[in-house]
Amino acid sequence: MSLKHLFPALERGGVHYLDSAATSMRPESVLRAMDDYYRYDSANPHRGLYDMSQRSTAAYDGSRSVVAKFIGALPEETIFVRNTSEALNLIAYCFAPSVLGEGDNVVIPITEHHSNIVTWQYVCKKQLAELRYLYIDRETGAIPDGEFSKIDGRTKIVAFAHVTNVLGSVNPVEKLVAAAKKVGAATVCDIAQSVPHMPVDVRALGVDFAAFSAHKMYGPMGIGALYGRLELLEAMPPFMYGGDMIEDVREQETDFAPLPSKFEAGTQNCGGAVGFAAAVKFIEEVGYGAIAANEAALLRKLTEGLRKIPGVTIACDAGAYERHAAVSFLVDGVHPHDVSTILNDSDIAVRAGKHCAHPLLDYLEIPFRSTTRASLGVYSDADDIDALLEALPKVRRIMGYGD
Ligand SMILES: Cc1ncc(COP(=O)(O)O)c(C=O)c1O
Repeated sequence: MSLKHLFPALERGGVHYLDSAATSMRPESVLRAMDDYYRYDSANPHRGLYDMSQRSTAAYDGSRSVVAKFIGALPEETIFVRNTSEALNLIAYCFAPSVLGEGDNVVIPITEHHSNIVTWQYVCKKQLAELRYLYIDRETGAIPDGEFSKIDGRTKIVAFAHVTNVLGSVNPVEKLVAAAKKVGAATVCDIAQSVPHMPVDVRALGVDFAAFSAHKMYGPMGIGALYGRLELLEAMPPFMYGGDMIEDVREQETDFAPLPSKFEAGTQNCGGAVGFAAAVKFIEEVGYGAIAANEAALLRKLTEGLRKIPGVTIACDAGAYERHAAVSFLVDGVHPHDVSTILNDSDIAVRAGKHCAHPLLDYLEIPFRSTTRASLGVYSDADDIDALLEALPKVRRIMGYGD
């Protein structure tokens, strides 16, 4: 059964929203939880001794416990940040300099989002270290075994997405973690594109750090979480300085608060945290089993349908990897911006462009350095896929190509 009726932005129809990998829509339960918090409980948490502030503290701390349990972490290991990008920056600023020196290297797959590239470019330049890429097979999208030898004795950090945002491919996390552990390198897993679709347990993944955003998993924008192993977070210096992250301040010295407060300076996004926890509860109520079954069936329908349309090619479609909830495709001779604009006339919302992944598109030598991407969410249904598959053949005709 379609869940569109639970999402105010979609319940009235009018849009086939196929851009959930960019941001998901938010269900009524998440909107209501945030509305209730701001209406009735929104005093500053961790500060007042009166009832309303205590309720706000309970809402903030309780939300953290919900989010931490969701990924198999402890509350002290779960730091609220603005988004995945900020979480990755926190690692680059507060952890990387302690392990990375001249001649060392950081290894990332070529499929990464800019937030998992530019951060490492920054810290590698600063520390005189090398940023190395694991290249994929251009046909299959998989990382060939030979690439793993780039993880060597000078590798200090291996960072990778769990699920990639352009191809929707699942990275071989087990192999990446094993290769990193063999040389004593730390692992950073960007789980922004996996948590909306599959259960993620950071301990089972065996990674040292993980990062994700609430807005891609039916929660609000402006809040996300960083997971870090307790010993690592304890040894790291703070990221930002100010109120609420201190234990004691003298004129010249400060003792910092214990985890997680050490990393959360100033008044935090408490309403966002409440919405984040409500999004977790929403996912748990629907259940990953139901989410995966719906999305897998729709993805099959979508990929099979795309393959049948003349002039349409799916990027890296030789099928050597497991794909999740997103497909990038090309329409012969047509810029993806035109594809998306024409689809918009049929009320179809897809993402077109570079998807914050310039190095991947360059490496794949994709025409126009751009793709069109359709991505799925919990509310996606067969109507959305039918609409896209029906509208796409018109694109080349409208652009002046014959059948
Ligand atoms: C795999 C991946 N990592 C990181 C990000 C960045 O997320 P945010 O913009 O919430 O920081 C995205 C966003 O599309 C993503 O898909």
